[in-house]
Amino acid sequence: MAIDNDVYDRIGAGWWDEENPLNMLAGSMTPARFSYFTSVLRRHGISLDGVRALDVGCGGGFMAEQFARSGARVLGVDPSEVSIAAARRHAAAEDLPIAYRAGVGERLPVADAEFDIAYCCDVLEHVEDLDRVLAETARAIAPGGFYFFDTLNRTWLAKLLMIKIPQDWRLTRVFDTPVHDYSMFITPAELGEALRRNGFVVGEFVGLGPRPVDPRVAVDLVRARLGRVSFGEFSRRLRFGRLPFTRAAYMGYAVRFAG
Ligand SMILES: C[S@@+](CC[C@H](N)C(=O)[O-])C[C@H]1O[C@@H](n2cnc3c(N)ncnc32)[C@H](O)[C@@H]1O
Repeated sequence: MAIDNDVYDRIGAGWWDEENPLNMLAGSMTPARFSYFTSVLRRHGISLDGVRALDVGCGGGFMAEQFARSGARVLGVDPSEVSIAAARRHAAAEDLPIAYRAGVGERLPVADAEFDIAYCCDVLEHVEDLDRVLAETARAIAPGGFYFFDTLNRTWLAKLLMIKIPQDWRLTRVFDTPVHDYSMFITPAELGEALRRNGFVVGEFVGLGPRPVDPRVAVDLVRARLGRVSFGEFSRRLRFGRLPFTRAAYMGYAVRFAG
């Protein structure tokens, strides 16, 4: 089954609308991954103040706004013009000086070593050419700069949670189109190899998911699907954070090889 990346043009005007299924990324993954990424930077004595940050596949700008609020100078890049427009509108309403540009990760519209850090959230399992995206990102980061990511492992658990429940099963499905394709999921071992091939030193991989895993979220998902609770509220109830296992979603970091 092919992935449908056009969905971000069809419904991407509503990233920030709590009734839009794309808003599920706002209250779940976004705070969890931002908290983890900043903990890694703190561990290395790096503050975000004034840091030049590149957001590859920025969507509606959930992560870009988190980084900008902490003082980073952010450029968000995404192929979906509709999503970029929504991100721009929201940043302007929030008075956040974030730059957005249309483009793909395989051919980033940026100069060599223009950024101190880059991040790519829930995007690597959407791209046509993973190696090309990583090579381009490495080109954009100055030597020694950090690269953060989260993506989906290719396991039965990830298939159940990210394909069967949200897009295949009639009772629970919130997308009527394939937003994920199992064959594009990436194991941590594969991502580690691809990072090393493309100029990075791998830092670590850690799990990402609901904490604790509460079976009542299944009921909440059905209620969200029926419009009884917003997708935004549902996403907050998931209480995402760092997990000790990488069997479904995982995140991590690498450092641009300094030569
Ligand atoms: C699940 S969304 C994640 C959005 C955002 N990073 C977030 O976490 O809120 C996936 C995004 O990847 C973008 N995308 C798809 N193919 C891409 C590519 N080749 N290069 C960069 N971004 C891509 C889509 O347009 C979409 O905005």
